Amino acid sequence: MKILAIESSCDETSVAVIEDGKKVLSNIISTQIDIHKEFGGVVPEIASRHHIENILPVFTQALKKADITLKDIDYIAVTNTPGLIGSLLVGLMFAKSVSFANNIPLIPINHINGHIFSSFIESDVKLPAISLVVSGGHTNLYYIYEKDEKIVTELLGETLDDAVGETYDKIARILGLPYPGGPQIDRLSVDGKDILKIKKPKVDGYNFSFSGVKTFITNYVNHERMKKNEISKEDISKSLQEAIVNILYDKVEKAVKEKNVKTLLVAGGVSANKGLRKKFENFSDIEVHFPKMEYCTDNAAMIGVAAYYELKNKKIDDKKNNYDVDAIS
Ligand code: KG4
Ligand code: ZN
Repeated sequence: MKILAIESSCDETSVAVIEDGKKVLSNIISTQIDIHKEFGGVVPEIASRHHIENILPVFTQALKKADITLKDIDYIAVTNTPGLIGSLLVGLMFAKSVSFANNIPLIPINHINGHIFSSFIESDVKLPAISLVVSGGHTNLYYIYEKDEKIVTELLGETLDDAVGETYDKIARILGLPYPGGPQIDRLSVDGKDILKIKKPKVDGYNFSFSGVKTFITNYVNHERMKKNEISKEDISKSLQEAIVNILYDKVEKAVKEKNVKTLLVAGGVSANKGLRKKFENFSDIEVHFPKMEYCTDNAAMIGVAAYYELKNKKIDDKKNNYDVDAIS
């Protein structure tokens, strides 16, 4: 089965071709990072306009790289939620047009599901598992298991305020680092010391909170600047990195123990973080899976794989064309 997948929820235009839910025949990603850098973050209107320009060339390239034509495609998958409304609409309308014109069924996919299933790309995942999705907009913890030959994704907890990626990006901005801040902080933290030793917030169950960490660092930086003291970006980065990684580690460790799983899946843009990858090596008795770098941040391959499992799990009616589906921010 071949699925052509389209992703345009934020500032990446991506089209992929996936075979049998695992093999990536192509995964073309056109990122707008350099365009939004100058504004310190994604400008929604500019993002939509660039998606319009990029979608057709990216689509053409994806088919070419996979060395197939639309006649070989069984389904078209597209991200319809959550994301920037204008950006989502470009991908969804394009997908609907290609689907309608070529009579190929359309499968709407939730972007977060895409991140969860990015762990299944080109790998045999042993279930049950705990899945941590850490992206610019979300910080979610899932228990994933099989029931009646279907894969169930049960949400255990989520952030009560800021997402992890958002926290990285906001602190980076305060430090005057370019967008997106996560990779910059990750890089600088290598040469820094954890001078702030920020306490972990007390949050019940499997939920997370990062607003305290953000406020603490913001106040510290403002205070030091007022006193005209030098601040070391490296030390602030290391302090933030330690605080975030430890908060995530504690909740994941709790979930792994309580659900008694042997597999941990980490996904989403922040799963590219080197400090996080290193800390999670501490889980010595379970299999820890991080996606390849190109499947960490937004990409269409993960949308195609999620669609494959939606079909397999019969979560979606594959006979229906789904043209009534909306983009939802
Ligand atoms: O999954 P993604 O591409 O988009 C969303 O669905 O949000 O994630 C983007 C986020 C950004 O906040 C970016 O700063 C963060 O992932 N990110 C990182 C790293 N690489 C990307 N955060 C920390 N360390 C990294 N190496
Ligand atoms: Zn994402």
